[in-house]
Amino acid sequence: MSKVGILGIGSYLPDRILTNFDMEKMLDTSDEWIRTRTGIRERRFANDNEVTSDLAAKAALKALEDANLKPEDIDLIIVGTNSPDKLFYPATACIVQDKIGARNAAAFDLQAGCTGWIYATTVAVQFVQSGMYKNVLSIGAEVITRMMDKEDRYTYVLFGDGAGAAVVGKTDNGGFLGFELFADGSLSKYLEIPGGGTALPFSKEVLDKKLHYTTMNGKEVFKFSVREISRVSNIILEKTGFKVDDVDWFIPHQANLRIIEAGVGRLGIPMDKVVITIDKFGNSSAASIPVSLNEIYQKGKIEKGDKILMVSFGAGMTSGAMLLEWSK
Ligand code: ACO
Repeated sequence: MSKVGILGIGSYLPDRILTNFDMEKMLDTSDEWIRTRTGIRERRFANDNEVTSDLAAKAALKALEDANLKPEDIDLIIVGTNSPDKLFYPATACIVQDKIGARNAAAFDLQAGCTGWIYATTVAVQFVQSGMYKNVLSIGAEVITRMMDKEDRYTYVLFGDGAGAAVVGKTDNGGFLGFELFADGSLSKYLEIPGGGTALPFSKEVLDKKLHYTTMNGKEVFKFSVREISRVSNIILEKTGFKVDDVDWFIPHQANLRIIEAGVGRLGIPMDKVVITIDKFGNSSAASIPVSLNEIYQKGKIEKGDKILMVSFGAGMTSGAMLLEWSK
């Protein structure tokens, strides 16, 4: 099978920074509580005039520049998002297609909770491997903070906005070595937006009861996430024939530092190989892994041949992993 990898990568974080001390002014919370329970110190919020497709388009243009490609070279755009510009249609990916001028590209959104970019990139690789498309943009983009109730300290302090994008295409060496995708819909109630969809269309009651915002059972999500980090990582390593020691960089979804530390502890990966960005960006949902990957890439930390294990978990509940040999 032909090798497929990342030809270019980019990210965009809004310039509006909200620290835990800013949160203290808005909610009954404290820097100490947020830091010790989650590892978050600050997060980015989209500016009032920014929507998800703006963040996605900016990340996409950077990824194209990094790949030395033009927007017209892109055959398909997949946007993994849980906070689309418009609730049902059109797809945010179509708006991104227009904003970046990728006039030859098909475009669709993919919704898989915080695992969205892992799902989107897995799909992107299949299109390239099948020979149907040459260059596919896989984007994780969120203005997820707008899906939170400003008065709910339990959820509002956790999230941040951002976008990361990768151009997926054929490479001569390295590339993706394996993928694993999972879902367990029986757990979907633990993390959801109950109102506004066909199950409970918008009404005065939905708005009054704030059912158009995120509800979460934090303890159940926590347990699921810790379990999935080690379970999914072990499966992908076993199937691809690699060992934990072969991993140069481990990039978990950035939901909570305690989840990461507990998951990584079970797995036996040393913390100096684990990429942490939650302190600066909070939980940016489907954007968190590509943003984190781009952070170490921009800092020149990744070398050609490095094995990068990326693992995520999220609403659905979903989980998934990709093992990548860096080929740039
Ligand atoms: N500030 C201060 N106090 C708070 C806050 C806050 N922001 N939020 C909750 N508390 C209080 C609670 O009311 C509770 O008070 P009580 O004991 O008087 O009732 C106390 O803190 C402890 O609450 P717990 O729910 O026991 O706190 P816990 O240690 O479980 O931490 C948290 C909560 C951080 C949400 C944790 O459960 C968690 O991270 N769960 C995973 C959820 C997650 O990662 N979600 C992200 C989205 S999902 C995804 O990305 C996959």
